[in-house]
Amino acid sequence: METAPKAVTEFSNPNIDVMYSADQISGRIKELGRQLTAEYAGKDLVLVGILKGSVIFLGDLMREIDLPLKIDFMAVSSYKDETVSTGDVEILKDLTNPIRDKHVLIVEDIIDTGLTLTRLVEILGSRGAASIKIATFLDKPEPRINKELKVDYTGFTIPNEFVVGYGLDAAGRYRNLPFIGVVKDPSVA
Ligand code: IMP
Ligand code: MG
Repeated sequence: METAPKAVTEFSNPNIDVMYSADQISGRIKELGRQLTAEYAGKDLVLVGILKGSVIFLGDLMREIDLPLKIDFMAVSSYKDETVSTGDVEILKDLTNPIRDKHVLIVEDIIDTGLTLTRLVEILGSRGAASIKIATFLDKPEPRINKELKVDYTGFTIPNEFVVGYGLDAAGRYRNLPFIGVVKDPSVA
C-alpha cells in the first residue's frame, strides 16, 4: 500500500529553530546548479565532496548540474566531535582518482574559520588540476581566520551561529534534518 510522504514536521524538534526550510534550500540549489552548468560547460568537471557534511548538498547540487561531471570524496579531520577548530587537518580518506588536468570543484558543507579549506586547497593545489574552486552550502564569514580564502560559490551566508541539518551535525547528530536549523539549548540536544 502506498504511504503518504513524510511531512517535514515529523522531523521537527522543539529544541531547533528553522533557519532555512527545505523549500528555500532547493530553490537556492537550483540557482547554483544553473550557474555551475553555464560556468563549467565544456570542461572536465570533478566535484570533490568533503565527507561527511557535504553529502546532502553534493547529492542535490550534482542533480542540478546538467553536465557530464564526475564525483570523488575526501575525508579530513578538523572538528572531530568538538565545536572548536584546531587548524590541524589530517587526511582520513584521499581521492580515489587523480585530478591532473581536471576542473575541481570542492564541495563543502560550511566554511567557518576557513582553516580546513585553506589546507585542502594547498594539498589539492599541488596535484596539477586545471582549476580548483570552492562551493560551500553555508558561509559563516564572522569567525574566518584566513580572510584571504576565496569562496567561489555560496548557498547562504549566515551569522555566527552553530547550525545543524542538511548534512551538518552536532556531535554526529541531526545530519538527516531536511532543513537548516539552530540548536536552541545544546545541553538538551
Ligand atoms: P573551518 O572552516 O576549518 O573552521 O571548519 C569547517 C568545518 O567545521 C565544517 O566542515 C564543519 O564540519 C564544521 N562546522 C563549522 N561550523 C559548523 C556549524 O555551525 N555546524 C556544524 N558544523 C560546523
Ligand atoms: Mg565538515
